[in-house]
Amino acid sequence: MSAQLGGQPILILKEGSSRTRGRDAQGMNIAAAKAVASAVRTTLGPKGMDKMLVDTIGDVVITNDGVTILKEMDIEHPAAKMMVEIAKTQDDEVGDGTTTAVVVGGELLKKAEDLLEQDVHPTVIAQGYRQAANKAQEILRDIAFDIQPGDTAILTKIAETAMTGKGAESSKEKLCELIVKAITMVTDEDGTVDTENVKIEKKVGGSIDDSEIIEGMIIDKERVHSGMPKLVKDAKVLLLNAAIEFKKTEVDAEISITSPDQLQMFLDEEEKMIKTIVNKVIASGANVVFCQKGIDDIAQHYLAKAGIFAVRRVKKSDMEKLARATGAALVSSIDAISTEELGKAGRIEERKVSGEEMIFVEECYNPKAVSIIIKGGTDHVVDELERAIEDALRVVGVVVEDKKVVAGGGAPEIELSLRLREYASSVGGRAQLAIEAFASALEIIPRTLAENAGLDPIDMLVDLRAAHEQGKKTFGLDVFAAKAADMKAAGVVEPLRVKTQAISSAAEVAVMILRIDDVIASSGKGGGMPSEEEMAAMGGMGGMPGMM
Ligand SMILES: Nc1ncnc2c1ncn2[C@@H]1O[C@H](COP(=O)(O)OP(=O)(O)OP(=O)(O)O)[C@@H](O)[C@H]1O
Ligand SMILES: [Mg+2]
Repeated sequence: MSAQLGGQPILILKEGSSRTRGRDAQGMNIAAAKAVASAVRTTLGPKGMDKMLVDTIGDVVITNDGVTILKEMDIEHPAAKMMVEIAKTQDDEVGDGTTTAVVVGGELLKKAEDLLEQDVHPTVIAQGYRQAANKAQEILRDIAFDIQPGDTAILTKIAETAMTGKGAESSKEKLCELIVKAITMVTDEDGTVDTENVKIEKKVGGSIDDSEIIEGMIIDKERVHSGMPKLVKDAKVLLLNAAIEFKKTEVDAEISITSPDQLQMFLDEEEKMIKTIVNKVIASGANVVFCQKGIDDIAQHYLAKAGIFAVRRVKKSDMEKLARATGAALVSSIDAISTEELGKAGRIEERKVSGEEMIFVEECYNPKAVSIIIKGGTDHVVDELERAIEDALRVVGVVVEDKKVVAGGGAPEIELSLRLREYASSVGGRAQLAIEAFASALEIIPRTLAENAGLDPIDMLVDLRAAHEQGKKTFGLDVFAAKAADMKAAGVVEPLRVKTQAISSAAEVAVMILRIDDVIASSGKGGGMPSEEEMAAMGGMGGMPGMM
């Protein structure tokens, strides 16, 4: 980039920087965003496929979850990264619908490309898309129906819809029951749900069917010393974020010991210090200690002697959950140990799960602490199960809060598409073209559901449109029977928020990318058009190479 001054070019960018403008810039950004969408498209719906992602050190993740796939892929292109962001936002806001958001975003850009070719100005498209997105929110609220937060039957259906296609088919019913139970337990009187209160603990071994729910917390640790009690009733819990160890010197110091007496003195001193710490713990009245750091052998011995149940190297996230569950404060220095900082639990016990010891913290001070133990044959199975359960927990939580749901299976998308077309003709002008493009972009959801199930997308769309034209608003694609069917009656229902969020963030990212007409990148960044090969690699299985 340079300006001219008296014939002399003035360089304002560093050497090696690149700049792409106008249609080229748009073309590149749109291509990158579409590539991201096509990478996750095949995973959509109950018959969607999974992806196997292998990272640089060979770790394998097998998943169907849109946001997980995109997070695992090392995406570099700035516009492609914006698409990944919408998946993350969707995940943060509702926990489900990440694939939908990205696929709709990609399709909006594809339709925009057609309009750009017809010389419709990007700002006109952007304006039309915004209008359409606002109208879509209105229509969605109109077609949503109310549910009672106590209606466990419908909540179970919602959990099932969120879990479909995520590798838990055989035990879906049982798991969904657990999920609804867990959410009911953690719902506040004012109707808010914090899914953080539900802890998921994974165990490889056994089958998915052996998964269970525990009222309380489970920590995947053992007590440090076999001389400690296995069970503590009326536990007074100390949460310590400091090591129970002899303090090492901060600087490298050398202690020269020249006689056996001196060595004994040194060891005695060390033991005395540890004893002082243990005495402080005893004096506080604690009978259970969860320590985020280490506990020295000598300390373990003295704690065991005092009948204290101690656990070391507890994860930070577990410490935080324990603080909530027991009402204990996190104590970060030995000097701060005192009775006031302790929390309570009815019983703390070490028990075996699938042949491994785990610690159960039950009858908690805060009854909202709930854990689900999930079991499965292999690491990959339990990992994917955990993601599916997380999605379902969030979705059920969202519905308990909002009390609004829509039918699934592409029903809302078809209805939106129909009504947005009507709306477009009432708007007229060039914006009409953009709104119509938005309307047809939404059909990508039922179309993809059909394609992924091996059905003819054209036939299915015709069927669905016909049903909706007859006022059957909840008709979606029954991928198992290969025809349009009443999704509400079939129990395929999703939270309204999944759809409102997906459509608004898809529209936002499309508009943002469309409005860019100049890409100025310092050397090596910014990316050009991904090559045919890279696009193909992304659309298929496996990882995505850097799109440079
Ligand atoms: N039994 C079913 N029949 C028809 N469609 C279904 C059924 N179950 C779920 N769906 C549809 O599948 C779509 C969701 O698919 P999927 O869960 O793979 O993607 P997502 O929710 O968008 O993203 P992710 O779950 O990866 O975050 C929704 O449109 C939903 O209505
Ligand atoms: Mg989903």
